[in-house]
This record gives sequence, structure tokens and C-alpha cells, in this order.
Amino acid sequence: MTKLIQTVKDWQAVRNQLKEHSIGLVPTMGNLHKGHESLALRSKAENQTTVLSIFINPTQFDDPQDFKNYPQTLQQDLKIAENLGIDWIFAPQPEELYPDKYQYQVIETYLSQILCGKYRPGHFTGVLTIVLKLFLLIKPTATYFGEKDFQQLQLVKGMIRAFFLDINLVACPTIRDANGLALSSRNQRLSKEEYQLALEFPKLLALPLTNQEIAKQLTRLGLHVDYIEEYQGRRLGAVRLGKVRLIDNFLISTP
Ligand code: PAJ
Repeated sequence: MTKLIQTVKDWQAVRNQLKEHSIGLVPTMGNLHKGHESLALRSKAENQTTVLSIFINPTQFDDPQDFKNYPQTLQQDLKIAENLGIDWIFAPQPEELYPDKYQYQVIETYLSQILCGKYRPGHFTGVLTIVLKLFLLIKPTATYFGEKDFQQLQLVKGMIRAFFLDINLVACPTIRDANGLALSSRNQRLSKEEYQLALEFPKLLALPLTNQEIAKQLTRLGLHVDYIEEYQGRRLGAVRLGKVRLIDNFLISTP
């Protein structure tokens, strides 16, 4: 049985009973899909207890419209969690996690400013702040993050190192749909035509072409390119189709 916890106080009482357990934490914003499921299954295989958090974190949205449109599907998510055999869902309200009203923040000064950080001011400060709060509250022994959000993964890795957090970070591969598009809650907002165009993004990003050539071809197809850049042996990219912003990355095969 998956148990739902919605307050900090309730979780702290549970955590006190789990003292000796290995605990895997899967932080999410809900609207669970196969990408999230792969993280949860890995955590289940490697820990005695798995906690999946669902929290649409207001501080990481640089675009208020994106926050407003973010799908809220708690009942559906609970069913998925139940089928996967997840032990605990932690789904608190913002007041629970921000008693300080975001007065205290985790600011990273280099990596958070480049790539996606350049286009989404404050985004990674919001992400790191909420992830640190979840780490300190849930007190996991391991945590599971997707390579799909490669920059986020690297920033969390850096924060764990910087603050000597005793947590094993496990990076999980990107799960894609049958056509190669990385699964994302935002894909549902693509129209049929936009979806067809979106498929060109992972296709081109994975090809042994230069960043400039890929950007040029995507632009020609009608996608708005935020950036195509290399970072740590990977090619990372972000594009926009109408109101939907997609990110992806691949290991580099040199031209
Ligand atoms: P969210 O977008 O819900 O993603 C939760 C986790 O699932 C992240 O680690 C993300 O990388 C992973 N994930 C998403 N799509 C994936 C896919 N197609 N394949 C594999 N993994 C995938 O990322 C966030 O939420 C938030 O920023 C969060 C870390 C929860 C902080 O609020």
C-alpha cells in the first residue's frame, strides 16, 4: 500500500520509525510518466524504502504561465505509485516547504548561469533550494535523478559535494517514446503538428554534426532554438515550439 503524507510533521514522525532503513528518494513535480517510473523502480530495487515526492515547486518557474499550466494529477499519480509498489508519496502544500517564504536560497554561481540558466533566470536557485529542503527533510541514503535534465543532475551532484551531504546520487538514463522524443510532462501540450516537428529535435541533436549546423537545421524547420552547446562530453539543447519548451541531450559523437 502506498501511503500519502502531506505535512512535514507527519513525515518526521514516519522518518523516526525508519531509522535503520536505506531510503531512496525520487523528487518529482508529479504527472508521472515512464521516465519517473524508471527512477522509482531503480530506487525500489536498491533500497528498503522508497519515497517519491510530488511538489510543483513555485520558485523554479521563471514563467508564471508555465506554472499555471503545469498538470496537477495527484489521484492518477497515486494509482501509478500504488502499481509500482512505492512505499510513500510526500505531496505537501507550498506553505509546508517554504515556512521562510523563500527568504533562504541555495545559489550556485557558475553552472546555474549558463545553458538553460541563461534563459531561465532563478530557475536553478529554485531547484537547488527545494532539493536541499527535500534532502534535509526526507533524509534519504540515495536519490534518483534523470539524465534528461542533465544540467540539473550536475548541479545537484555539485551541491551534494559542496555541502558534504551523505547521499548517493544515482543518474538514470533518459526514457523516450517510440519516436525518440524524451518523455516530459510538457509533451502533452504539443499540438499534433508541433509533435511531428518536435521529433526532429532529438533526431538532429544525436547526429554527428556541428552545434551550428544542428541549430541552423532546426531553425529552418521552424523551431525556436535557445541553444545547442557541448558540456561535459554531451551535446545539450533547448528549443521552443509555440509555448512549449523542450530540452534534451546526447553523448557526443564527433563530426
Ligand atoms: P520533474 O520534471 O517531475 O522530473 C523529476 C525527475 O524525473 C527528474 O530527475 C528528471 O530528470 C526525471 N525525468 C523526467 N523525464 C525523464 C525521462 N524522460 N527519462 C528519465 N528521467 C526523467 O525535475 C524536476 O521534476 C524538478 O526540477 C525537481 C527535481 C523535482 C525539483 O523540483
